[in-house]
Amino acid sequence: MRILVTGAAGFIGSNYVRYMLSKQPDAHVVALDKLTYAGNLANLAAFEGNPRFQFVQADICDPDAVGEALAGCDALVNFAAESHVDRSVIDPMAFVKTNVEGIRVLMEAARTHSVQRIVQVSTDEVYGHVPDGSVNEQTLLAPRNPYSASKAGGELLALSYFTSFGLPVMVTRGVNTIGPSQYPEKVVPVFVTNAIDDEQLPIYGEGKAVREYMYVTDHCTGIDLVLHRGEPGAVYNVGVEYEVDTVTLATSILELLEKPRSLMRLIEDRPGHDYRYSLDSARLEALGWQPKYTFPQALAETVNWYVENEDWWRAIKSGSFGEYYARNYAERLARSRPVAAG
Ligand code: NAD
Ligand code: TYD
Repeated sequence: MRILVTGAAGFIGSNYVRYMLSKQPDAHVVALDKLTYAGNLANLAAFEGNPRFQFVQADICDPDAVGEALAGCDALVNFAAESHVDRSVIDPMAFVKTNVEGIRVLMEAARTHSVQRIVQVSTDEVYGHVPDGSVNEQTLLAPRNPYSASKAGGELLALSYFTSFGLPVMVTRGVNTIGPSQYPEKVVPVFVTNAIDDEQLPIYGEGKAVREYMYVTDHCTGIDLVLHRGEPGAVYNVGVEYEVDTVTLATSILELLEKPRSLMRLIEDRPGHDYRYSLDSARLEALGWQPKYTFPQALAETVNWYVENEDWWRAIKSGSFGEYYARNYAERLARSRPVAAG
């Protein structure tokens, strides 16, 4: 199978490339990435020189580049996206461009080249805040921030290519994912790298927002199962049913790193914060998928990776990331409160 993996230099994309090349000896991977602030060639360095791997720097919004990369491919898995909620609140434009227009370009190219299997990687955030119970794939979408709204638009557009043109598109909606090489803007790497440096852990609101955290290889096996066995036109939730609030998450990280609770700080909430997501993943489980990592295992693996790969994240944190961090956190941290002893 020759597969185009878009967004391959990011967190989940690069882990998926590793999974494909190591577990599927007949897989040839064309890895395409624009290399935005979140794309990092270091994430793909291990595959350089592998005859089954090829890298193309390109924008998924560029029809010529996408068409060229897709020629001769049997399959497409799209990870490329603007992926961070807080940045989408600051600047929604790039989110609409990549997460919606980029999908149109990919789907048009997939039609032209008669690609046989296509997975659009989406997110549990398209359901919006889930006050109780769990949502399945029939639940109405109710995204509430520019990131999740653009992801919902992108996946609906992708599915419309199945309905309108018979293009064999599947969609996955995965929960929060953690593991090696996640850009240090998402909550786990923010907390882990700050804690290593004895810096404060900025917790939004009262720290009670709940997420399911899944290890990245479990997310990759879920996506891969859908690629090979999913039903065209279908959507698959990918979740682990293990709910963790932000204070508990921060506490667990501080315990693993043997750092004091006093590093936790409550800061002004994220606007439009979705306080809970929760997925029913029975449809994917019926295909035979089971996550391998419990939350404590996933977190311990992740923390260890950041401890052992300081060069990777220090290179990011010493660059333009500092401007974003100051803009998003500096004033809020100056007005922050401690977390009550618990
Ligand atoms: P990431 O930000 O680490 O990586 C995104 C990659 O896409 C980067 O390498 C970036 O350079 C590339 N990219 C961005 N715009 C591009 C464009 N126009 N053309 C080509 N490449 C472009 O994100 P991630 O955490 O790896 O997420 C990957 C996908 O999984 C996204 O679609 C995201 O919505 C989805 N997802 C992520 C999570 C999570 O917890 N991280 C959970 C569920 C779903
Ligand atoms: P995040 O990693 O941004 O993922 P999501 O897209 O699910 O919001 O945030 C996960 C949770 O952690 C969410 O409830 C917001 C919270 N959070 C903080 O409390 N502080 C932070 O600095 C960040 C980035 C997130």
